[in-house]
Amino acid sequence: MAQPVRPASSSTPAVVASRLSKSYPNGGEELQVLKEVDLTIAQGEFVAIMGPSGSGKSTLLNLVGILDRPSGGDLRLMGREVGKLSATQAALARRASLGFIFQSFNLMPRMTALQNVMLPMAIAGVGRRERHDRAVAILRQVGLGDRMKHRPNQLSGGQKQRVAIARALALDPPILLADEPTGNLDSKTGAEIMALFTRLNAAGKTILQVTHDEGVARHAQRIVRFKDGRIAGIESGHARPAPLVFEELGHVPAWSGAAAAQPAWEPSPEPSRRRLRKAEKAEKAEKAQNARKKGPVPVAAPGTKPYTPVRPKWASGHGPGEGWK
Ligand SMILES: Nc1ncnc2c1ncn2[C@@H]1O[C@H](COP(=O)(O)OP(=O)(O)O)[C@@H](O)[C@H]1O
Ligand SMILES: [Mg+2]
Repeated sequence: MAQPVRPASSSTPAVVASRLSKSYPNGGEELQVLKEVDLTIAQGEFVAIMGPSGSGKSTLLNLVGILDRPSGGDLRLMGREVGKLSATQAALARRASLGFIFQSFNLMPRMTALQNVMLPMAIAGVGRRERHDRAVAILRQVGLGDRMKHRPNQLSGGQKQRVAIARALALDPPILLADEPTGNLDSKTGAEIMALFTRLNAAGKTILQVTHDEGVARHAQRIVRFKDGRIAGIESGHARPAPLVFEELGHVPAWSGAAAAQPAWEPSPEPSRRRLRKAEKAEKAEKAQNARKKGPVPVAAPGTKPYTPVRPKWASGHGPGEGWK
């Protein structure tokens, strides 16, 4: 059964790292990669992390993403200590609060865009109908309404990254972590992806993004500079990008009201094992069915819409942990 979890209030920081350290064994010695890093990121902030190669940026992101365990210090996500979780607890905490976006997209190559976005929902036990409808809605919001049945090798780099962003949004996490998401894209495509991040941030998502590109980092409200495993400096006060970027993309920023309209974050309820097995079975059957029928690619209305969070039905109207019994 799901543990009762208190919803984090909006004043709880999204991320609090206190004397956070990471070392790796290195031929009898310890290689100190992250050295007592203190960093607090408020909910709704957009923070860029910069620094030379090997300075510990990805290591920090992996710790915040609960993909790796700290060697020392504390790490809190949405008010909850996550540095010492078991593998199962870590998986549940990741699912409840984090979306990941990588430089190399990390999409499932044999799955369509739609299936890639539905996958995290299938694993979380969201019913077949709902995960389909939510995936369609999110793909439309990232401007891929007309590419849902395409596989990754039938998509451009920018489109692949949009699928990856849609997948990261599938369970409506409060925090998005992106490790050089524009690193494999040309500058125009990179700018489009950054415009999408800016929209997501305006709609209330907390974003932590590693980048090598000063121009990309300027989209963030703070730039944290790493050097040799430590924070070498933090710059703040970066302006929001000019609305021109949005006009080019055919949509208008919704700064005002969008963030306020965002419902307070609630942790995703934990599905029962029975429900998980059922969802996995349904997913398998669906894949088999898809493999059999090769219908025409449905064409949805092209163009992008302003991002509005597509909240799972089961995440509203009842308390955490309910609705799965
Ligand atoms: N699993 C690991 N084992 C040993 N050393 C590692 C491991 N992961 C990263 N490192 C080392 O930690 C340092 C920081 O790596 P990383 O965080 O990936 O840097 P950045 O993302 O800033 O380029 C590098 O020197 C790297 O070689
Ligand atoms: Mg890196």
